[in-house]
Amino acid sequence: KKRIVSGVQPTGSVHLGNYLGAIKNWIDLQNTYETLFFIVDLHAITLPYDTKELSKATRDTAAIYLACGIDASKASVFVQSHVHAHVELMWLLSSATPIGWLNRMIQFKEKSRKAGDENVGVALLTYPVLMASDILLYQSDFVPVGEDQKQHLELTRELAERVNYLYGGRKWKKLGGRGGSIFKVPEPLIPPAGARVMSLTDGLSKMSKSAPSDQSRINLLDPKDVIANKIKRCKTDSFPALEFDNPERPECNNLLSVYQLVSGKTKEDVAKECQGLNWGSFKPLLTDALIEHLYPIQVRYEEIHSDSAYLDSVLEEGARKASEIADATLKNVYQAMGFLRR
Ligand code: TYM
Repeated sequence: KKRIVSGVQPTGSVHLGNYLGAIKNWIDLQNTYETLFFIVDLHAITLPYDTKELSKATRDTAAIYLACGIDASKASVFVQSHVHAHVELMWLLSSATPIGWLNRMIQFKEKSRKAGDENVGVALLTYPVLMASDILLYQSDFVPVGEDQKQHLELTRELAERVNYLYGGRKWKKLGGRGGSIFKVPEPLIPPAGARVMSLTDGLSKMSKSAPSDQSRINLLDPKDVIANKIKRCKTDSFPALEFDNPERPECNNLLSVYQLVSGKTKEDVAKECQGLNWGSFKPLLTDALIEHLYPIQVRYEEIHSDSAYLDSVLEEGARKASEIADATLKNVYQAMGFLRR
């Protein structure tokens, strides 16, 4: 079976962008592939954070995965920091990562500009190396993510190739390695729709956990009246009718795409249905479709979240299965890099 891994940071609340860009697409994959889904708590400390919130947010995010339909009997669900190999491999990979590759990362540039140099920890720069280790440890074939992770995936691929080249040559083969390749080179899986869900208050910036205004995003756990209110107040335009793909109408394209994905209709059907509508008649449709899609997730979330023994057992079993795969890769890497065997 081909293998798939992906994860979400436990910072703030999981929003519609995380769901449509990533989590929703994981659900179908678990039937066809071997899947591992983790909560990347180690990534969540790369910007200032609240120590009192971290473990709660980690647990909440795990419950969200399950509530969205991740099936713990098919997928391994675990917490990144519970599998020690992630941090260990990261150090080994760091030595093979040119610093220029990291300086070029768009997310690093954006986040560090906002925070200011003196507030930026080294971990914000090396963040993509940890992400590469999350992926390469499992010899993953595919990584389902939103568009904003594309550059990190590209770095992961280049790093895998570089390590294969530097340490996977003849010396490695002599030691009995698999055909000279230490890591499988993974491919991103970016969905055709939903890969970049935009802010409700500005169709040109992406929906994000860190945007100061909560009005800019729909959180998966928002109650019905909050969803209705956010859609009522969201930014629109004054063009007649509604349409996809008009570059002058980013908000319109975004809201139609969201409607398409939560209603389960095709793009063509939505385009037809909405071409004769105005904002006043479309907004209630969108609100209802959102509530109808999210409400069952919220009900399941409450059930799962209140059963802490169950949640603990899922995370424990997930970490156990993940560790088996991760430890085997790590051992090979140490060997290929010439370390004394323990
Ligand atoms: P994070 O926590 O920022 O986001 C989790 C997932 O949600 C996607 N996403 C979006 N998709 C569409 N529209 C949006 N507005 C939107 N915002 C976020 C992201 O692309 C992502 O798929 N570095 C990663 C987490 C990570 C990871 C990994 C992912 C760490 N290690 C290994 C895959 C494999 C991150 O910060 O995602």
